[in-house]
Amino acid sequence: MKIKFLGHSCFLIETQGKKLIVDPFISPNELAKDVDANEIRVDYVLLTHGHGDHVADAELIAKNSDATIISNFEIVSWYEEKGIKGHPMNHGGKRSFDFGELKYVNAIHSSVLPDGTYGGNPGGFILKSGGITLYIAGDTALHMDMKLIPMTSGKLNAAILPVGDNFTMGTDDALIAAEFIECDKIIGCHFDTFGYIVIEDKEAAVADFKSKNKELILPQIGYEISI
Ligand code: NI
Ligand code: MN
Repeated sequence: MKIKFLGHSCFLIETQGKKLIVDPFISPNELAKDVDANEIRVDYVLLTHGHGDHVADAELIAKNSDATIISNFEIVSWYEEKGIKGHPMNHGGKRSFDFGELKYVNAIHSSVLPDGTYGGNPGGFILKSGGITLYIAGDTALHMDMKLIPMTSGKLNAAILPVGDNFTMGTDDALIAAEFIECDKIIGCHFDTFGYIVIEDKEAAVADFKSKNKELILPQIGYEISI
């Protein structure tokens, strides 16, 4: 599984010959000006919740690619009205796709679509594909239900957690989350994009994780990892 960071909470995932993009927020992101959302072609668009900083380029990319949007029922219904095909899920449900298995799991946050339409409850995904299990938390606070993830989905190879604080967990709570989910490789996201979520001391955050024998990756845009 190849994972590429495209800024904020957006990741391009290649697995089992398929391409998935998570939470595309590219064209409004000043930091991602070298990435052209118009050129991106994928098979699936995964949306954790309806906020603009997660769905801004979802319509563009889905239409350009004739891709399927996978998200909660309310978000998928909203995009279906725009002529985009979708696969609706809800919390606790899992489903097999041609790239692997996806489970929609709990997140503590809020969710509204850009035009004010109710965006359902926010979530995260557990992606199992090609022998790899990846947790994509979405925007969330630290919460006790994270302990259910290793119980129900087995050993995680890596997890993408928000770490920018203010709107989501900060790095301190993300370290506790890493313990709850029993995962040693954490890819941080949702940091530095706007003023409220700048991480001032990245080295200290990375060192805190290291002291608990965990790795915190704070990726630059374009960063790629194979797991
Ligand atoms: Ni959000
Ligand atoms: Mn967000």
